[in-house]
Amino acid sequence: MNVIETSDICKNYGDLKAVNNLNLSVSQGEVYGLLGPNGSGKTTAIKLLTGLILSTSGTATVLGHKIPSKSVLNDIGYMPQETAIYLDNTVHENILLFGEIYGLTRDQIAEREVELLDFVELSERRDSIASTLSGGMKHRLSLACAMIHRPKLLFLDEPTVGVDPELRATFWEYFEEMARDNITVLITTHYMDEASHCSRVGLMRSGQLIAEDEPERLKASTGTASLEDAFLALARRDVE
Ligand SMILES: Nc1ncnc2c1ncn2[C@@H]1O[C@H](COP(=O)(O)OP(=O)(O)OP(=O)(O)O)[C@@H](O)[C@H]1O
Ligand SMILES: [Mg+2]
Repeated sequence: MNVIETSDICKNYGDLKAVNNLNLSVSQGEVYGLLGPNGSGKTTAIKLLTGLILSTSGTATVLGHKIPSKSVLNDIGYMPQETAIYLDNTVHENILLFGEIYGLTRDQIAEREVELLDFVELSERRDSIASTLSGGMKHRLSLACAMIHRPKLLFLDEPTVGVDPELRATFWEYFEEMARDNITVLITTHYMDEASHCSRVGLMRSGQLIAEDEPERLKASTGTASLEDAFLALARRDVE
């Protein structure tokens, strides 16, 4: 059974087809990269899959539940594109709040906090007010909060924007480690070096998936040397 399965899912905003007959299948333990130009529908697709917005038509199943479904909420983590943290609260208070939302005990939160702040390299900023963190640090805190409850499926919408290269590399090691633990990750990015770490990538354009494959196979099928060139070739092919 696939962790994510959509069937002709659509989201219209007036005349705009933000997501247009999207058919997506993601299996357990995949790190699936959703790529595409600004406005191609990546965030809208994620919002549909988390149940934050309702589809205009079509259906989606996430972790075996037809969405929207309350049953999946405890098993999914979502890091939105706009950093979702409480700016007036400290790093620690944010972690606590998210832990409590997911019903973790204080002990569980405390244990997880140590691991996660170490992972996002914010242990020394535990008592800083979130608004005083740098942009990249806020992003890192948002990622930690999305992972507090050890979700089985993680939606990461541009998680590495503004994160320095060294830490981005650490993040990717971690995402790959999660995949080895059978956690499924659906991630959006505009960085092609990151896309090449994905088990499969899907290229969106105007709300539709115009190509999908393993990064190496996309390069081979377009006869290009880099993923960036592969995408440019596929996008051009789509316009023609
Ligand atoms: N609430 C909304 N009301 C009206 N239009 C919307 C709304 N949300 C998204 N859109 C439109 O839907 C289209 C897809 O937007 P979306 O945010 O999904 O793109 P994206 O692929 O995530 O882009 P980016 O790479 O810039 O994050 C855009 O044209 C956007 O303006
Ligand atoms: Mg987006």
